[in-house]
Amino acid sequence: MNYFESNYFTYKNSDLFCENVNLEEIAQNVGTPVFVYSKKFFTDQFKAFENAFKNINHKIFYASKANYNINVIRLFNQLGAGIDVNSAGEFYRAIKAGVLPKDMIMTGVGKTDEEIKLSLENNVSLIKAESIQEIHQINLLAKEMDKIAPLAIRVNPNVDAATHPYISTGLAENKFGIDETLAMQIFTEANKLTNIKLLGIDMHIGSQITKIQPFVDAISKLVSIVEKLKEVNINLTHIDVGGGLGVKYNDEKTFTVDEFAKAIIPVLSKTKCEIFFEPGRFLTANGGALISKVLYTKENLAKNFLVVDAAMTDLLRPSIYGAYHHIQPLKLKDPKDIIVDVVGPVCESGDFLAKNRNISACEKNDLIAVMSAGAYGMVMASNYNARRKPAEVLVDGDTFRIIRERETFEQQIQNEKIVI
Ligand code: LLP
Repeated sequence: MNYFESNYFTYKNSDLFCENVNLEEIAQNVGTPVFVYSKKFFTDQFKAFENAFKNINHKIFYASKANYNINVIRLFNQLGAGIDVNSAGEFYRAIKAGVLPKDMIMTGVGKTDEEIKLSLENNVSLIKAESIQEIHQINLLAKEMDKIAPLAIRVNPNVDAATHPYISTGLAENKFGIDETLAMQIFTEANKLTNIKLLGIDMHIGSQITKIQPFVDAISKLVSIVEKLKEVNINLTHIDVGGGLGVKYNDEKTFTVDEFAKAIIPVLSKTKCEIFFEPGRFLTANGGALISKVLYTKENLAKNFLVVDAAMTDLLRPSIYGAYHHIQPLKLKDPKDIIVDVVGPVCESGDFLAKNRNISACEKNDLIAVMSAGAYGMVMASNYNARRKPAEVLVDGDTFRIIRERETFEQQIQNEKIVI
C-alpha cells in the first residue's frame, strides 16, 4: 500500500494520528464522515511562505475558497494574512471570523452589484476587476455611492499552467481576466474614470501547478505591462501573482516555496511594486484528512469495492477531476493488499473516492482516512441525496475541537415551506 505520512499525520504504534491525537478517538467522539485539520500544519505552511518572501515588500491574502471554515480564516488572519474573498458569502464569513475589510480583497469573475456595493460600503482594500464592463460598473456604483473604488485589473497572460483543464485559468480560451493584448488599452481607459483609483495588476493562472516556469513566464508579462504603463504615467503600486502552488497528493514532483521565491523574486524586483499572493491549497491541502467508516466490503464479478460512509458529496475532487487522494486505514493491521474501488453511498457511478486502488485489506466498520483533504474538500460539499454535510474538527497538539457540527436534517429544510 502506498500511504501518506508527514510531520502532521503519522502512524504511532500502527494508529494514525493527527499531531498528538489518535484519529480513532475523533471518529468515536464526533462520528464519520468528519474532516480533521492540523492547526500546526496551517501555521507552519503560512510561516514558510512568509519566510520565503521576507526580504521583499509583500502581502499574503489567504484564498478562503480553499477552506472557508471561519476558524481557518481566523487563524490565517491572526497569523498576519489578509483574506481573498470571492463572493458576498466569503466576505460574510471573513467578517464573522473577525477580519477587517481593510485586510480583504474582493475577487471573482462575475461580481454582482450587491458584491461591488458591499465592497465599497465596507472599504475593502481592493476590488479586482475582470472585464471592461465590470470596470465601468464598479465606477458607476462608486459614483452613486460617492466613493473611489480601489481597483486592480486581472490580466490573462495566456500561459499554459500545465494543470487539469478545469483548474487552468491563464489561457486565452479561459473566462478569466482581460486579454494581455488589450491590457494597455483597458488600463488607460480605466485610468480616465472618475471614481476609480487604479492600484494594481493581477493574475491567477491556475491551481495545482507543479512547475515554476509558467509563473515566471506570466509574471514577466505582467512586469512588462507595468513598465509600459509607467511610460504613460500610470503608476501601479502592486502586482498580484495569485495562488496556484501545487502540492503533493501522490507522487507529483512539486517545488518548495523557497524555490518559488528564488525563481520569481528576480523577475518581480524589476519593479518597485508590492507583491501580493493568494495561496489557498498550499496553505491547507495537506493539513486535512477526511475520516470515513467502511460500511460494507463486496466483490462483484469484475471488482472489489469498499462502500464507505463518505461520498462525492463530502469530497468531490475524485469525481470531477479524477483527483488522486491517498486512502489508508486508521489502524495498520493487515499487511495483505487488495485492489478496490472506494465508493460512497450516493446513487451515481461517479461517486467514488478512488478507483483500482491498492490498499491494505479492510473489513466492515474499519476506519479509513482520505488524505490531503484540507483544501477544496468541505467547501465543495453538497446535499445531494439529502446527505448531511460532515463535521469539521481542528486538532491543536494533543487536543481537538469541533469547529463545525455535522449538519442536521432540520437545517437542510429550514428554507422550505409547505404550500400545497
Ligand atoms: N486566487 C484566485 C483568483 C483563484 O481563483 C484561486 C483558486 C486562488 C487564488 C487559489 O488558488 P490555489 O492556491 O488554491 O491553487 N476546486 C479545484 C480548485 C479550484 C481553484 C479555483 N481558484 C480543486 O479542487 O482542485
